[in-house]
Parts: sequence; C-alpha cells; structure tokens
Amino acid sequence: MGDIGDYTIEQNWSEYGEEEHAIWRLLFERQQELLVGRACREYLDGLSGLGVAAGGIPDFRRLSDLLDRATGWHIAAVPGLVPDDIFFAFLARRRFPSTCFIRRRDQLDYLQEPDVFHDICGHVPMLMNPVFADYMQAYGEGGLKALRLGHLEQLARLYWYTVEFGLIATEEGLRIYGSGILSSAGESLYCLDNPRPNRLRFDLGRVMRTQYRIDRYQETYFVIDDFEQLFAATRPDFAPIYREIARLPEIAPDELAPDDKQCAGLGLGKKKGPYLSTARV
Ligand SMILES: [Fe+2]
Repeated sequence: MGDIGDYTIEQNWSEYGEEEHAIWRLLFERQQELLVGRACREYLDGLSGLGVAAGGIPDFRRLSDLLDRATGWHIAAVPGLVPDDIFFAFLARRRFPSTCFIRRRDQLDYLQEPDVFHDICGHVPMLMNPVFADYMQAYGEGGLKALRLGHLEQLARLYWYTVEFGLIATEEGLRIYGSGILSSAGESLYCLDNPRPNRLRFDLGRVMRTQYRIDRYQETYFVIDDFEQLFAATRPDFAPIYREIARLPEIAPDELAPDDKQCAGLGLGKKKGPYLSTARV
C-alpha cells in the first residue's frame, strides 16, 4: 500500500493559462446563477466563506488556509483519480484530494472524470461546514475498514448517493448538497425539476443496496433531513449492516422497493414530510 504523500503533487497555480481561467469563470458564473434557490444554505455559505470567486482557478494554498481555520481540512493536489485505499486515507486525515486540470471548452456540460471545477467548486465549500467535515473524515475511516471487510462497493454507493448526488429537505423545499450535481448545470435543474427521477427518503441500507450509473443523470436521489442525520447514520459499526444487506437483493438504479418513501420535487418537499408513498408524483 502506498502513502498519500506518493500521490500529492504541486498545483503550480502560476502555470494556468488565460484560457483555463476563462473556462473556470464561464462555469462558475453559470452555476452561480443556477444555484441560488437550488443549492443548500450550507453550500452557499461555504462558497462565500472561501471567497472562491469568479476570478479564475483558485490557488489551493489560499483555500487550505481558510479551510484549516474553519474545520481543519486541507486540499491536496493529486494527478487524477487515486487508488481507493489512498483516497480513503486522504479523507481520514482531513485532506481532500483535488485534481488540478480543468475541462476543455467543448466539455462544459459533461465530463465523466473529476476536474478542478468539480473538486473545488463542487466539494470544497461543503467542507467548510463542521458536521459535513466530520462526516467526510468518518467516511474515509469507514472506507479503510470496508476495504478490509470486502464491502467497498456498498460503501462507495453511500458516497455516490450522498457526497456526490445528495439532496436535503429544507423548509423552502428540496435543495442540493451533492457535488456531482452542484458542478453540473444540467443536473442542477434535472434533479429538482424533472418529474422522472425517484426522490427517496434516505435510508442507509437502501442506499448501500442501490446500484448507480456514472454515464447519465441519476434515476434515484436520496433526501436527508439534515447533516446530523447523515453523520448519525454512519456512526454505528457497519460490519453488521454489511452482513444484513448481503442477504438481500441489489436494487437497480431506477427501481422502487415496497418501503420506499418518495418526496415531491422543488418547493414541495417540506422538512419532516409529508413524504408520499411510492406512487409517482
Ligand atoms: Fe466528486
């Protein structure tokens, strides 16, 4: 097993060109407009607290200073996707591994691998929130354990359906906290407005049984009540949960199970329900 130091590189901020900063500005301004009334308050607070502005690709050192003061997290520049054990080790040590490159102008709307816009504008603002910051560290620790127990796939689904594609119920309606959505203009609209996807109440076992696809908008989103609920759900030992779900069938990305509780879309998903039955709304 390698060490996180083997995968940490220099961002070399001064070497970004004008075109790269211009792409960042384009993406940033577009999302800024879209995300008001769609992103959760914690994300918007984190974004303004970091001062990640429309000016261009931020310098990780400046962001790390601000993050460190808020929640003790740092950004570590990495060359791209890192092995699972290394990824978890970064998180367990409150280091967020971020790619440095930015997508090309012809990839503005869709990119399968993470780039600096996804990692910094999507993930890092949420790390300014103390509860979410603790959740991410706990996830890293849980990941190292899941690797030892052979349940990586189940735990990866938790990350996918919360950190990347999570929704949260607020008094004002459903809001986005998942970074995969926050860094995608199309999915920021689709996840809240389109009647097609399922929006189900968060349930840890249900999430761990649900397969996902990386090449299209999600067919199911899971909705939490608040970040404390998310952190509390992941506090117990997962070993008995892994054993229990190993006996149950997997659930396809678009499938509905008998116990699912569906939430309504934008403006209708009030905190603490009413949650609707599995009948589509
Ligand atoms: Fe991500």
